[in-house]
Amino acid sequence: MDALVNFTNQSQGRDRIFRASQYACALSIYLLRNNTERKDLVAKLKSLETNMSAGRKLLRLGNTANSIKAAKRTVQLSDRVLCLCLTAANVSRALYFICDNVLWARSVGLIRNIDKERWNLNASRFYFYSLLLNLTRDAYVALQLMLERKRDRHFREKMDQNLNQCPEVAEVILPQLDAFVFLLLETLKSHPAVALDTLKNICDLFIPLDKLSIYKSSAGVVGFCGLVSSLIGMVTLAKPTLQIKP
Ligand SMILES: *[C@@H]1O[C@H](CO)[C@@H](O)[C@H](O)[C@H]1NC(C)=O
Repeated sequence: MDALVNFTNQSQGRDRIFRASQYACALSIYLLRNNTERKDLVAKLKSLETNMSAGRKLLRLGNTANSIKAAKRTVQLSDRVLCLCLTAANVSRALYFICDNVLWARSVGLIRNIDKERWNLNASRFYFYSLLLNLTRDAYVALQLMLERKRDRHFREKMDQNLNQCPEVAEVILPQLDAFVFLLLETLKSHPAVALDTLKNICDLFIPLDKLSIYKSSAGVVGFCGLVSSLIGMVTLAKPTLQIKP
């Protein structure tokens, strides 16, 4: 079991490269869709995208064990909100990978009698829940950091200065909101790990939203958001200080 978990940890970098390529293909296909001279290229990109997606499914076979192990870790967190959000997110992610593995088994012919559409929808649903829980965690962490910062005297002086510089705006347009946005931006600026994780989760959200028909965006938006989130994933894997903890 541990060997499997270790191996999938190592293959994460590879998966992120494949994922970035997959969404780069999707985005290029979208951008080239009306270009009649590039039909051959589009066909090649389509087959590349399909292959990337199938290859990633194979690499993801150990990820269920990985997510269960992560859930066992997060259930021990002392902060109740973090414990709940992250454990539920990891369980949801494990369920997503189970659906994903079943779909892989069907695609290679190991099993036949399953409703592909239903398993696909379930996979997207669990992925969606996991993302929502991760975003809740991001909001909670950001809020705590903001409160911490607000208590900081130096920062309060800076904020007052900022508000005094534009008195009309401060008086007319909800000074509270102005102060909130200022505080939020300052907090995210000094905690890039939280900012990156939030941006990554928001980008990822467009994928299940589209698949579940909750919010239909274009293939271009899905490709672009998937690419941005994969690139952020690669950056945080290469630079662990930019990874949100726990
Ligand atoms: C949610 O966050 C956890 C911990 O940061 C991460 O391992 C997991 O991949 C995230 N889930 C999704 C669907 O991105």
